[in-house]
Amino acid sequence: MLPIVAYTDKLTVAPGESLTVMAGSFGAREYRADLRRIIQGDTNPDGPGYRDEVVQLDLGGVRPAVRKGFHPGSCVIVPGRGMLAGLKDFTLAAVMQPTLLDGRERSVIALPGFARIGIDENDRVFAEAMGQRLVARSRIVAGHWHIVSLSFSTKEQHLILTVSNEDDAASEDLLPENVVAHAEVAVCSADEILIAATRGDDGRPTGFFDGKIDRPALFEAVMPHDVLRRLLADFTRLSRMRHLRAAWDFSRSMTTQTICDISPFQLHGKIHNAPARAMTGWIWRGQELDWKKRPDLYSAIHFHSTDVYDVAWEPDFTFVLPQDLKSGVYAVRLVPDGDEEASYYCVFALRPPRERPTGNTVAFLFPTCSYLAYANHRLGMDVPGTEIGMGRAVELDRHHMFLQTNPGIGFSVYETHDDGSGVFHTSRLRPIVDLQPKVKSFLGGFGSNVWQFNADTHILGWLDAIGQEYDVITDEDLHAEGLQLLSRYNVIITGTHPEYHTHNMIAALQGFTDRGGRLMYLGGNGFYWVVSFNEDMPGIMECRRSEAGIRPWEPGHGQFYHAFTGEYGGLWRRNGRPPNHLCGVGMTSQGFDICEPYYLMPAANNDRAAFIFEGVSTSDKIGDFGLAGGGAAGLEVDRADASQGTPAHALVLASSTRHTDIYLMTPEDLLDPTPDWSGTQAEIIRADLTFFETPGGGAVFSTGSIAWAGSMAWNRYDNEIAQITSNVLRRFNDPQAFTMPEASEKGR
Ligand SMILES: [Fe+2]
Repeated sequence: MLPIVAYTDKLTVAPGESLTVMAGSFGAREYRADLRRIIQGDTNPDGPGYRDEVVQLDLGGVRPAVRKGFHPGSCVIVPGRGMLAGLKDFTLAAVMQPTLLDGRERSVIALPGFARIGIDENDRVFAEAMGQRLVARSRIVAGHWHIVSLSFSTKEQHLILTVSNEDDAASEDLLPENVVAHAEVAVCSADEILIAATRGDDGRPTGFFDGKIDRPALFEAVMPHDVLRRLLADFTRLSRMRHLRAAWDFSRSMTTQTICDISPFQLHGKIHNAPARAMTGWIWRGQELDWKKRPDLYSAIHFHSTDVYDVAWEPDFTFVLPQDLKSGVYAVRLVPDGDEEASYYCVFALRPPRERPTGNTVAFLFPTCSYLAYANHRLGMDVPGTEIGMGRAVELDRHHMFLQTNPGIGFSVYETHDDGSGVFHTSRLRPIVDLQPKVKSFLGGFGSNVWQFNADTHILGWLDAIGQEYDVITDEDLHAEGLQLLSRYNVIITGTHPEYHTHNMIAALQGFTDRGGRLMYLGGNGFYWVVSFNEDMPGIMECRRSEAGIRPWEPGHGQFYHAFTGEYGGLWRRNGRPPNHLCGVGMTSQGFDICEPYYLMPAANNDRAAFIFEGVSTSDKIGDFGLAGGGAAGLEVDRADASQGTPAHALVLASSTRHTDIYLMTPEDLLDPTPDWSGTQAEIIRADLTFFETPGGGAVFSTGSIAWAGSMAWNRYDNEIAQITSNVLRRFNDPQAFTMPEASEKGR
């Protein structure tokens, strides 16, 4: 397993800036750290071999390795600001829809130490106050909305717990269940309110609720259930109600961590561990699908006991990146107890200085959004299902075992929470154990074990092998700085699988190629999903897999718009920015067994492409070899398609003409299922090697295949795939403008 894991406070840092390392022991007693530049992370014995370069920088010798845990679970925390002490008669209420009832006691709303409503081990609503515990008779139903309330009357000395199942009937004639107990008056000792959790003995939130909560409120009076129900349904009336002490409208300040109290007391709170906001509430019946237009219908938050934002570990040490250190991919290497084999690598990008260019004209775009999307991917949780999908046995790496035994580290956006709902959020404020050199994935295709980061180091290794100087910029930098950052360069080179992009990133890249920039898209399934960042929560990313795409979950009906930005989630193809428009090709299929060669197409003989094939002797196929599945075309493949935005003058130079039946059509193409939707039969299942010029003098070269870089690295970068890529880079790095072909010339 992993005796030590760690993370840095940033994934991108400039020379002269500091980086802080947070390390947690999972068995290690001590560790020492050094700084390394990563050149080639793949340990495949058939490949060019692992390579890094130590940077002479003292990171402070041996340190004790301190045990640090994970504390998942989201909730709302509202500081009481001394305003709860005078509470006598009261009603505590919420609308809730549990999504997981599994024998754990959970809290719905709590004034810790004074009063609480929750769900017990037998799926019954309970309430606690004044030393009494009231339990409803009927079990509640997961997926149903319920109104729960707890009232206390000083005059009657009665505690009343009321529960109504709001999905039982369409009429107003609900029959709520009441449980009544005698109780002595007590002084409210609580000075905070927790929603979806309570305060544990160790001071941390605990008893997390899985499900939605809508319109929690606190009144200074006993509220009859029918009155309460009417008030909760109308925020305007509720906010002016005389006995209201606090009521939280979760649809206010939706894009932030703030939780707004609509009462005059302004008892505002904050979310903890980033639960899902902009979720359909109790009142939603499909009246509107965009939360921005009817926020009142989206006043629910979906909480999960498995949500994670910031693990908030104590820093171990901070160091400054030397001013003269060249831009690149680096890692702080932690060696636990002198065991180099068990080293943990905290990978980050050393970007160029913020204010001045380095003079390098080539930049590698380090796909931090895609790394975040895949971060801590526990695909191995379902090994048999994975093996069926891949057509082969898979091997679990030690980092997979760590993820399976430490789910509290937080999930990737490829997974579901324990209640089956999709994981919308992923964060870099936690260790990302699969973002390391040497780790083995099983997505990489037969004979291969690299994916994302390590597959991308095949490209870094190639740049090193051909002696090309380059800068490394990240998705995060591109999102923040836009075209200004790109305009320093002639050529931008992508990774093997740049799948996730914000609007800013796509717009910057499109602006770059439109204005004469050159884009080398050396991957597959790129520019596919919409993601967004949150200005109030650095380091977290949202992804909602709306409508189509190859996806492990749907966001749920009516929940297709991002909470962070209000953008419509899903595929860029459905949001006016199809990948075909930017790079000539777009996602068409995936399969994780074997890869194929490309066959040259007539367009390979076009004079416009002559520079691409210089020194390449073959007249038939290219890339019938490789470290990823044994061929240059495969794993995830893209096709040129004019109907999806491929420019009419684009040249499809080569195509893989046939894949195995593990490769299937994407849902967005599979409108009417027919028996010919798999690799051996469907003509659209192919990778198209594509080139085109842009009107501004720029050009785009796209491989449309994740496996391409694995073939570049074959035979120590001495092969025609590496040669073609080098030819393209040489011409693309020449500022001489490309010219658009005559209008009469057709690409394909
Ligand atoms: Fe992917």
